[in-house]
Amino acid sequence: MNIFLTGVTGFLGGEILINLSKRNEIDKIYCLIRAKDEEEMTLRLHKIFAIHNDYFNDKKVIPVFGNLTDPFLTKNLIENKNLNNINVVIHSAANTSFSPIYNELVEKVNITGLKNILQWTKTLKQLQTFIYIGTATICGEGICNRIVYEDESPDLNSKHFVKYTYTKMLGEFLLRDYLPDEKILVLRPSIIMGDTRPWVPRSYVILWALATANLMRLVPVDADVKMDIVPVDYTANAITELLFAKRNYSTYHISAGTKSSTTPLEITSAFEAAFNDRPPFKFVDIGMISQMKNWAKGRLNPQSQLNKYTDYLEYWDKIFEDKSGIRILFAGLEPYMKFINLGQIFDNSRLLQDTTLGNSESSAEYIKRSITYLENIDVFEGAIDP
Ligand SMILES: NC(=O)c1ccc[n+]([C@@H]2O[C@H](COP(=O)([O-])OP(=O)(O)OC[C@H]3O[C@@H](n4cnc5c(N)ncnc54)[C@H](OP(=O)(O)O)[C@@H]3O)[C@@H](O)[C@H]2O)c1
Repeated sequence: MNIFLTGVTGFLGGEILINLSKRNEIDKIYCLIRAKDEEEMTLRLHKIFAIHNDYFNDKKVIPVFGNLTDPFLTKNLIENKNLNNINVVIHSAANTSFSPIYNELVEKVNITGLKNILQWTKTLKQLQTFIYIGTATICGEGICNRIVYEDESPDLNSKHFVKYTYTKMLGEFLLRDYLPDEKILVLRPSIIMGDTRPWVPRSYVILWALATANLMRLVPVDADVKMDIVPVDYTANAITELLFAKRNYSTYHISAGTKSSTTPLEITSAFEAAFNDRPPFKFVDIGMISQMKNWAKGRLNPQSQLNKYTDYLEYWDKIFEDKSGIRILFAGLEPYMKFINLGQIFDNSRLLQDTTLGNSESSAEYIKRSITYLENIDVFEGAIDP
């Protein structure tokens, strides 16, 4: 079996690549990588394996130079004779930014880029499966505090906090314009955060938001709202298993489901004691974030509720010398808090039925193994480019 994989330099794609590279059933894995030249491309590929000392087999793992938004991408892929016998395309690359300043790029990568890949995929004579790595959050902001099922999406009427989830939803429709149903497999992870293995994960995605909450300690989210979080190693294992499984469905959530979902309170309680030089965690209404932003601008109304939390405001004054920094942090954190506050749990019975995986470990458990590096996360850098 020959695979073409995108997004290998990313959090999930890197983990998928390592997993697939260990499977004997796979002959070659061609990896789309953007870079300024061949040297940088090879270096980026090697780094994926070096991060956790995984074995790199250059006969099996082959880089393919390319940017999803390049108008010549489709032509270049078609002309690359090595790719003629690809059996499976796994499209994990995306622009995952929540920030409105990246909206145009998000659209370009997630829609135009997907079209470029699909136009080439359509020409593959030996294609068996196109795996689209979607996201369970395409269900949108209209669903709150309940279990969400795979069949509820994609829905063109769904409303979205951010362009990212909207484009991922549109992407699922786009697939059907190019490929027959039997060749499409849509895998939708919920929120991927950290790794259950006791090492620094290959990306701080989402952990950034946790590190920020750990710094602020006054957190504008419901303490008891259900959060559906899965670790990256479980997610990559699920994708690999589903590739080879006898599948009963063409769309799967890769999620914590009811059994392994957790809450902000459970997660923060798991590591609070490890940072005992900070005020205790306190959760406040999500609406308070606008007051927090006003505080950072020096424009907090004296009547505002936030004034009641003097201890926290004094603590923030102490830790944030530059108030503009905290404004960036609040702005970066806001969409994450909005998502969490929705209380969406994604049904995982299809996944449990068709794989041997069982439920994932709860993030409130494995996060305890992450405490040591949580403090090393540069929250300001994360707020700009999470
Ligand atoms: N992380 C989550 O919580 C989560 C949850 C549900 C679903 N997902 C889905 O999982 C997939 C992977 O997400 P992730 O967390 O691994 O994201 P990520 O760490 O941000 O990685 C994104 C990958 O896409 C590549 N990419 C972006 N723009 C590109 C372009 N123009 N041309 C070529 N490659 C490009 C990046 O390459 P560069 O290194 O060159 O930038 C990188 O390899 C996405 O489809 C996402 O929607 C993620």
